[in-house]
Amino acid sequence: MAHVITEACIDIKDRACVLCCPVDCIYEGERTLYIHPDECIDCAICVSACPTQAIYEEGRVPPEQRHFIAINREFFAPEVSGLGSPGGAADVGRVACDHPGIAPGTSAAA
Ligand code: F3S
Repeated sequence: MAHVITEACIDIKDRACVLCCPVDCIYEGERTLYIHPDECIDCAICVSACPTQAIYEEGRVPPEQRHFIAINREFFAPEVSGLGSPGGAADVGRVACDHPGIAPGTSAAA
């Protein structure tokens, strides 16, 4: 299990979650951020930090947002960002891509 960032982050990117994450497992793409499912320790500190309530524990993701479980995981795959498991977002910085599921028009703010 891990925590998952969902639609309410898209084009908002408040980053409060990044500042409070004790293991630096929240990575930045172009339009949203992604929690690394293997690096997340499930502490849940980020859940209350996010002002848009974009973050859920994997088992609590609302049905209409459940595709974001795969989006968070697949972002790190070779065919998307290629990041793999870097072990910390600070040294990676902003990645110049998003998961293809973060398509134009999917933003909650659009
Ligand atoms: Fe996004 Fe919320 Fe973090 S808006 S960057 S998930 S604090």
